Amino acid sequence: MTYVVTEDCIACKHMDCVEVCPVDCFYEGENMLVIHPDECIDCGVCEPECPIDAIQSDSAPGMAPWIELNRKFARLWPNISEKGQPPGNAKAMEGRPDKLRDLFSELPGEGT
Ligand code: SF4
Ligand code: F3S
Repeated sequence: MTYVVTEDCIACKHMDCVEVCPVDCFYEGENMLVIHPDECIDCGVCEPECPIDAIQSDSAPGMAPWIELNRKFARLWPNISEKGQPPGNAKAMEGRPDKLRDLFSELPGEGT
């Protein structure tokens, strides 16, 4: 069991989630965060912290591809444990459809 960051996070990246994680298992991409599924202890503390409900339990419907995306990029991106500055247009990007196809960046973020 793990929690997963999903499509809504892309281009929003509010980062309220990282500050509460007791095991620091968030990893930072250029415009999204992911959770390392083998490090997450399934505490659920981060889920209500995300203002746009981008964090889901892996038991929610349709999570399989997102677990794999989280796993893949948690290995490639740097760890992040401190909230940074969200993108300036984060508000405008909320709820935008097809973020994975149109906006997702494989580039790493800076990490903290
Ligand atoms: Fe961290 Fe708990 Fe969220 Fe897993 S569920 S990412 S351990 S805060
Ligand atoms: Fe993303 Fe929400 Fe965290 S938008 S960075 S999952 S607070």
